[in-house]
Amino acid sequence: MTPAATRLVDMSDETITDNAIAVNTNTVNNPRLQFVLSKLIQHLHDFARDTRLTTEEWMTGIQFLTECGDITTDIRSEFILLSDVLGLSVLVDSISHPKPPSATAGTLLGPFHTHDAEVKQQGESISSSGKGEPVVITGFLTDTDGNPIPDATIDLWHCDAHGKYDTQYSDRTHPDMRGIVRTRSDGSFLIRATKPVPYSVPDDGPVGKLLHNVGRHAMRPAHIHFIIKKPGYETLITALYGKGDPYQFSDAVFGVKSSLLFELERLGSRAKEFDMNEEDWILRWDFKIISEQEGQSLRVERNRTAIKGVEGVTLNEDGLPVAALD
Ligand SMILES: [Fe+2]
Repeated sequence: MTPAATRLVDMSDETITDNAIAVNTNTVNNPRLQFVLSKLIQHLHDFARDTRLTTEEWMTGIQFLTECGDITTDIRSEFILLSDVLGLSVLVDSISHPKPPSATAGTLLGPFHTHDAEVKQQGESISSSGKGEPVVITGFLTDTDGNPIPDATIDLWHCDAHGKYDTQYSDRTHPDMRGIVRTRSDGSFLIRATKPVPYSVPDDGPVGKLLHNVGRHAMRPAHIHFIIKKPGYETLITALYGKGDPYQFSDAVFGVKSSLLFELERLGSRAKEFDMNEEDWILRWDFKIISEQEGQSLRVERNRTAIKGVEGVTLNEDGLPVAALD
């Protein structure tokens, strides 16, 4: 740990970083906060030094963050979107929720999850009529050995045929295109939705301007989001992506993984089984989740590997890096 500063005067670009870290990390009795804050200061200062940041550019950054705050509401988080388009969300998910290859991969949450989704019965639809081509989504939830996991909640949400989430309509009165279904005793589930389409992330705010200024598009390939929860198991936050989508290889928020690509099939002769039409679609998908213990072991193992050989750093009781005591 850097020694505490005694006299905060005559700061130069050689001395400011050590002193800023010292003064910010000796007043709070929270080793993890102290460690995170010291790293944040170090990297922020290095960023300014490396770029030879001008006062005008610093002010542009402050103005940009202010605009992100101004446009953020309960149902629109410009900061999550910023994190998403910079690749930070996917990075944090992979660090914080590593998965063995035998489990369903996770991916970023995105900015459109809400906490008001209704619980649906098996076979019910999450979509109000007229908002897309019907799809039945069915499969099993198991552990990585194939044992069924009953009574878990599967929370799913996606955009409508116009590429909009319900929260993007100003006249929203109730949740739509989102719902929660529980797995049956054999781990199976059956829920109806509609065919997702590619959509643009909100690009009418500061993040959209940023994408435009660096020559990027704001599109995401068609996908369906899922959060799967069951006590004793690590919560899975993931999404399934349409294979062959025009944006499969250029997702604006870097969420696509090869193991999460789905292909829809026409129901055809199976339509009657689901009380649907032959031209409707079916998406069959089995999710595999890991126990909390497996998740924690894997996380700690990766964290231990990450700090190997780094002087002055150890893992705390939660398996997270902190400064080692002298
Ligand atoms: Fe999405």
